[in-house]
Amino acid sequence: MPCGDLLIRRIGRLVPMTGPPIADAALVARAGRVAWIGLERELPAAVGEMPSVDAGGAAVIPGFVDAHTHLVWAGSRRTEFEARLTGVPYDGGGIATTVAATRQASTEELIELTRERAAAALATGTTTLEIKTGYGLTVEAELRLLDAINAVAADVPQRVEATYLGAHAVPPGRDRAGYVAEVISTLPAARALGARWCDVFCDRGAFTVAEARQILTAAAAQGLGGRLHADQIERLGAVPLAAELGCASADHLDRIDEEGAAALARSGTVAVLVPTATLTMRTQDWHQARTLQAAGATIALATDCNPGTSWTESMPYVVQLACLALGMSVEEALRGATLHGARALRRADLGHLGVGAVADAAVLAAEHEVDLVAHLGAAAVRDVVIGGVVVSGSRPAQDPSPDQSSSASSASTST
Ligand code: NIG
Ligand code: FE
Repeated sequence: MPCGDLLIRRIGRLVPMTGPPIADAALVARAGRVAWIGLERELPAAVGEMPSVDAGGAAVIPGFVDAHTHLVWAGSRRTEFEARLTGVPYDGGGIATTVAATRQASTEELIELTRERAAAALATGTTTLEIKTGYGLTVEAELRLLDAINAVAADVPQRVEATYLGAHAVPPGRDRAGYVAEVISTLPAARALGARWCDVFCDRGAFTVAEARQILTAAAAQGLGGRLHADQIERLGAVPLAAELGCASADHLDRIDEEGAAALARSGTVAVLVPTATLTMRTQDWHQARTLQAAGATIALATDCNPGTSWTESMPYVVQLACLALGMSVEEALRGATLHGARALRRADLGHLGVGAVADAAVLAAEHEVDLVAHLGAAAVRDVVIGGVVVSGSRPAQDPSPDQSSSASSASTST
């Protein structure tokens, strides 16, 4: 995990998420954490020499926290995708196609495919990734996916949180009760392999509310936090369950109603919306954010990156859809993609650039964060900083020039 000292200079607009945006700003990171933010002309002289990056007047926001991905898979779902274009609805049945292809792939192939997706996410500003298993669906195959997630986590700069989603589908040919028992019996091994979360796809054609309750209760006893795929296809009662069990998040929520939204608001369970999945499912139902906002629920945004319903690694694209289709404001959408994504992972140190936070940031390819939404399909992010280290971008990794880094000690530096 990168961890360094860094000065980001000449920030046209710093959007810390913990307070109002700051114009003509600078940010100082020390040992991977935000040590100072403010007007560049007030930069403390005591900052001294450190590596620096020149934002050149661009906007800087916290790195994106993508709190819902299914990043580990092999194979394609293009036949299903084309069928959807002719009006065939999504019913979760395609998961079996991906399970078959994923079981056939070698662990090395899975690691490479996942690493490539994490790299694509990094290029679009994602600094934290939650990654679910769920395309193995046997004890060995699921644990192998956790091995792959661990290998990727060790190799990419992003922070990774692993989620065990053995309860993604009842594998073809398996009896339901037997498979639920198997998922539960796998929890200790999943925990031992570093999984922090357990998720269940609780929906028509997947797992029932009673099964989800059984699995998530057992998961909690093993120290795994709960998350729930809820109300994606049908409103079965998954949302009240997530609220009752105190899950960290309830995700998808395409069918959320006022009662469910109120339950999430009361329990503090973060509502994770995945508008690219809504788009790909072609249901054209975009009421979710409005319903949740009216109830006062906390909304996060995530990619749901997966081969069947949401093939994207791009949080900027998710934010664009959140504004243009879900009707969120730019501020709400960016907060959802950063601060509230972190909240969905119960991480108070991520998703903002307040002093003390982990110094994960994206230097936008624009002078204002609204342009990230308005400029559709553009490369939205120029440089990515993780733990105070520039890890990706169009510029030299760090600015070695002594006259520029010494400007860190000059209070008179200005744009
Ligand atoms: O989040 N809804 C369940 N799981 C995934 C899709 C899985 C698939 O179709 O491969 C989702 O949309
Ligand atoms: Fe999902």
